[in-house]
Amino acid sequence: MPADLAFGIHERSVVAALLIKNGTVVNADAQSAADVLVDRGVIARVGPALDAAADTVLDASGLYVLPGGIDAHTHLDMPAGAIRSSDDFETGTMAAAYGGTTTIIDFATPERGQELGRALDAWMGLAGGRALIDYAFHMVVPEWRDGTAAEMDRLVQRGVTSFKLFMAYPGRLMLDDGAIFRALRCTRGNGGLVALHAENGAVIDVLVQEALALGRTAPKFHARTRPAGAEGEAIRRAIALAEMAGAPVYIVHVSSAEGVAAIARARERGVPVHAETCPQYLCLSDAEYDRPGFDAAKFVISPPLRPPEDQDALWEGLAEGVLDVVATDHCPFGMDDPPHKRLGLSDFSKIPNGAPGIETRLLLLWDQGVRTGRISPSRFVEVTAAAPSKIFGLWPRKGAIAAGSDADLVLWDPSARTTISASTHHMRVDYSLYEGRTVTGAPVTVVSRGEVIIDRGTVTGRKGRGVYLSRTPRARPAGGP
Ligand code: URP
Ligand code: ZN
Ligand code: ZN
Repeated sequence: MPADLAFGIHERSVVAALLIKNGTVVNADAQSAADVLVDRGVIARVGPALDAAADTVLDASGLYVLPGGIDAHTHLDMPAGAIRSSDDFETGTMAAAYGGTTTIIDFATPERGQELGRALDAWMGLAGGRALIDYAFHMVVPEWRDGTAAEMDRLVQRGVTSFKLFMAYPGRLMLDDGAIFRALRCTRGNGGLVALHAENGAVIDVLVQEALALGRTAPKFHARTRPAGAEGEAIRRAIALAEMAGAPVYIVHVSSAEGVAAIARARERGVPVHAETCPQYLCLSDAEYDRPGFDAAKFVISPPLRPPEDQDALWEGLAEGVLDVVATDHCPFGMDDPPHKRLGLSDFSKIPNGAPGIETRLLLLWDQGVRTGRISPSRFVEVTAAAPSKIFGLWPRKGAIAAGSDADLVLWDPSARTTISASTHHMRVDYSLYEGRTVTGAPVTVVSRGEVIIDRGTVTGRKGRGVYLSRTPRARPAGGP
């Protein structure tokens, strides 16, 4: 089968040959001094001192050449009651590209009662003609109906092979254990993967009602009413349900030491559990909730930021391989312009959950992970590109610098310094979680399918050039469903 059809590509723009010379090529399994030759958007050869003609030659002396980042957790143009997350597919994918990300997997989010396939159609409409980089979709399953399993099967045929279910947000998105178990069994049969937001929503609901009854309405009570134990319990339950269903499971945005420990224990028993964390949980602590006035609303995310001991456990889990993926959970809402977060000025439970991060993931992880020696450049590539590609059915097209893979490449300067600020970032949101923080290590040039889309701080790719990525389901376990 031609590669285009195998990967369900809709469009492959013809891009002239490109040669990247003198860089240090980093893959998840090795790094070496090598040149990279690209032809028609695909990597043709990788090797030392390649002798080849090309229309464009980039000198990567002193730079790393990394696979373009894959952000497996974004919420662009996401509806949240009467408002939507503030980045759409145009602004969000441009910001992602500025940060060295060349693929996103966004969460298509159906309305209640909407057929899942219709939600996919809607998200195709939101992304098509707007995205600068390539995109795939997970599907949120907000309720369990008689036809849901069949709808999930049909989505797998359309290349949507992962489904996000919520153990939190009762009355809106939370599913009970029976529904989660049914979904897991469904994916055991169709080769999909259930991704779980693991927080015990029923317990949190009680704590929230109690806090509000006592007049505790400030943003910091968001964190106080979502304890790490609620995440730990939900992760342990998620693993138990997956084991009973005989299906793998992916835990999104792990934030706590308790969660990491539960995943490590399951892994030791051979349970196929994959796990993700995010830069905000690695790089920020719950001290942010002590900010005066309403400023702490910037950090109202679920799960919330945790004490420094949890950060240490997350870094350890990342270095040791307990956590597989670093994604952003990019879900921006304005503080003042627009005043989205102010919806919860007098009640923290009404503050829209979520924060921006699609642009700063690689900057922060390099600065706090690689520069400090916590993880190697190869491990950086693994958690930001190779692992999400393998887990979510994009491998080997994405996440590797190897002949035959898409030429999604980042020329990375390990000594470039950036001061992060809402006044200079490209995300359409009026604050940054990391305002004023200076980080070392940054993308210089970003290439997507052989085309330079970011060149030294300027966007050179055109809006709408990104293509939909139809993903491959995982091999079914022996013995059938
Ligand atoms: O606070 C968050 N994480 N908002 C986005 C939705 C989700 O739960 O991932
Ligand atoms: Zn979530
Ligand atoms: Zn999310």
